[in-house]
Amino acid sequence: MPRELLIRGGTVVDGTGTRQADVLVRDGIVTAVGDGLEAKTVLDAAGCVVAPGLVDLHAHLREPGKEEAETVETGARAAALGGYTAVVAMPNTEPAIDSAGVVREVMELGATACCDVYPAGAITVGRAGEQLAPMAEMAALGVRLFTDDGSGVQDSRLMRRALEYASGLGVTLGQHCEDDALAANGVMHEGEWSSRLGLPGVPAEAEELMVMRDIALARLTGASVHFLHLSTAGAVAMVGAAKAQGLPVTAEATPHHFTLTDAECASYDAVFRVNPPLRTDLDVAAVRAGLANGVIDAIATDHAPHPPEAKEAPFDQAPPGMLGLETALALALSELELPIEQVLALLSWNPARIAGITGAHGGPVAEGFPANLCVIDPAATWVVEPDQLASRSRNTPYAGRKLTGKVRHTLLRGEPVVIDSEAQR
Ligand code: DOR
Repeated sequence: MPRELLIRGGTVVDGTGTRQADVLVRDGIVTAVGDGLEAKTVLDAAGCVVAPGLVDLHAHLREPGKEEAETVETGARAAALGGYTAVVAMPNTEPAIDSAGVVREVMELGATACCDVYPAGAITVGRAGEQLAPMAEMAALGVRLFTDDGSGVQDSRLMRRALEYASGLGVTLGQHCEDDALAANGVMHEGEWSSRLGLPGVPAEAEELMVMRDIALARLTGASVHFLHLSTAGAVAMVGAAKAQGLPVTAEATPHHFTLTDAECASYDAVFRVNPPLRTDLDVAAVRAGLANGVIDAIATDHAPHPPEAKEAPFDQAPPGMLGLETALALALSELELPIEQVLALLSWNPARIAGITGAHGGPVAEGFPANLCVIDPAATWVVEPDQLASRSRNTPYAGRKLTGKVRHTLLRGEPVVIDSEAQR
């Protein structure tokens, strides 16, 4: 029996444009996009946008090793509920994803998950920043993005080598931009609020020094660099200038860096501890402007689950990180004041390109393409309730916030993994 399903009555939005159309899906593939299509099984999309599934360049799924915080299964379910059909899983697991064996393990865990899971490989062995990881054996399994995220590669010579190696393999390096010596023991942004609160700060320059260095290394090697979670006005300006010079750099920003400032830390609630830290109003405005003008290519969640007991610790002792997968789309739609086409470019087809997974994800919604899709009600309002989240952790900084824009359905290769905002597996 062919598996056939019709998404009826929605507005299709993808990288090719916007039009009113039904979408017919058969055996995992989009087989027709047009008016008056028929099928036995129908998903209602009246008043909704039908788009390519979202793609997250930056999710911590915690498996292997920290399953008390999240697993590939629970993280992927949270992702599907957030409209994602693909996530790149960060390698700061235990053990780190720094060999073909661990890549294979995460891929196997992802095979039955609610969304496609693409492991990112570590740049250095154990993410220790000392010795290059066997990138070629990981690339041979399909890994396209490498990063030591959680830390930046401090040694400039090693980073140069990694870039040369990556460019030969046709893969991209993602940098967590933080100069460790300058960041020292900082736990929030260094500025007026850190002084008032008596908490050690991380200056904006700790991020900007590494962005500056890696732009220089991209120029030196010709290799492409992807900047993870940009958070400062200076970093956004540097990436803009590098792009204007034609250098092969891309960048992402997180919802928390375009919606929250360091003033939140005044509560001393560790839910607001994150790395890079929440910055100032001026930085938030620069990140928003970068998203609007294309200097920042993608919105990435940096979904970083931590168990409640870890986040209940005092601010300076709690681990950094916030949940993101279930709230990113609604925050972007509610807060950015951009047309939905642009929001979806930032959340779907741009990150699909950076992750090297176009063809499978990021659209277009057209005959012959895989039916990795999400159906969004852009007008629906809802309130973030931590206990309702599918993530195994609860550390959202948006508890109680009213948001506009909700994911109704998500399809992974034609299979509805989310129907009417409920996970189906
Ligand atoms: O806040 C963060 N949490 N930043 C990182 O770079 C790592 C992440 C984590 O793994 O919890």
